[in-house]
Amino acid sequence: MVYGALLQPGRRRAMTRLAAAPGERILEMGVGTGLTVRRYPAGCHVTAIDVSAPMLDRAARRRARHQTGHLHLCRMDAMRLAFPDATFDAVYVPYLLNVVPDPLRAAREAARVCRPGGRVVLLNHFDRTYESDASDRVIGRLARLLSGVNWQLALEPLLAASGLRAVSVEPVNIPRVSAVVVCVRP
Ligand SMILES: C[S@@+](CC[C@H](N)C(=O)[O-])C[C@H]1O[C@@H](n2cnc3c(N)ncnc32)[C@H](O)[C@@H]1O
Repeated sequence: MVYGALLQPGRRRAMTRLAAAPGERILEMGVGTGLTVRRYPAGCHVTAIDVSAPMLDRAARRRARHQTGHLHLCRMDAMRLAFPDATFDAVYVPYLLNVVPDPLRAAREAARVCRPGGRVVLLNHFDRTYESDASDRVIGRLARLLSGVNWQLALEPLLAASGLRAVSVEPVNIPRVSAVVVCVRP
């Protein structure tokens, strides 16, 4: 429920901002069960990674159902990507940074594998990018309790340390506990 329907508005907005175009090379980090796989247009070359084999199995079944043959799935650690620098035109990081042990390392990897001038789209909860303080605190406590997510991730230091430049930050979901952050890789 939490990672499916409730967080789907954020995924939709993030995919709109990612604006993947035919011919582009796209990396999705932490693809999970593949809730966004059918939203990539035919003709773009999508590689989606996750550290969990069961998640990748579910994503593969979803890919088969939607016949999205242009999507390649790989088991890989987001904090140690096996791609050369500047491999992708765009990198999409949905709901991953709150669950990895070292979010900065994952963000740096996203920046490294994106070509200069390319875009990195983060979809995540970040401290102080939301509108609803009270509900955010309650949800944060629940999320930490139930799944151990890191609810205290500050956006500005993360961007500064990873070398990414934000061009827009949009609060998303209801309540607005997540943000779509569109970044450019300088
Ligand atoms: C909260 S889920 C989000 C899944 C998907 N992006 C979505 O929007 O539904 C986080 C995903 O990140 C994956 N993950 C956790 N740590 C990871 C790591 N170090 N490298 C790659 N994937 C990781 C998990 O297996 C899980 O599929």
